[in-house]
Amino acid sequence: NQIYILNGPNLNLLGKREPDIYGTATLDDVEALCNDACAGRASCTLLQSNHEGQLIDWIHQATEQAAGIVINPAAFTHTSVALLDALNTFDGPVIEVHISQVHKREEFRHISYVSKRADAVIAGMGVAGYAAATRHILSLLDA
Ligand code: DQA
Repeated sequence: NQIYILNGPNLNLLGKREPDIYGTATLDDVEALCNDACAGRASCTLLQSNHEGQLIDWIHQATEQAAGIVINPAAFTHTSVALLDALNTFDGPVIEVHISQVHKREEFRHISYVSKRADAVIAGMGVAGYAAATRHILSLLDA
């Protein structure tokens, strides 16, 4: 089993970007957390792009390659019908992750198109949310 861990725009800067909001862990740290959470039961592939179309291509590819998707769509969460449509073509479990507690923040972050498809949504756990999401995908795949 392969699990895709997809990350949207500006998350390449994780650790340096607004650390008061997003913390100091990097995307490499996130990859290590997800690999630990997979613990030999699946292989995690972490991908990040600043480009909406690239994320959509990876979601299409997931249909062939991955059993489940963990996705932090970053700012595209709040804008992208195209990401939602792409996720609707994928049959396996999808978990949406936000590092920050988006519902405590600006009004425009309270809307998520991706949530219309996600089987679970995690917000405000910091990068630990990725590990929780990965474990949840594994439990859904086992069920
Ligand atoms: C984010 C929250 C989004 O509102 C923001 O645009 C991000 C990161 C989070 O992980 O908390 O880039 O998805």
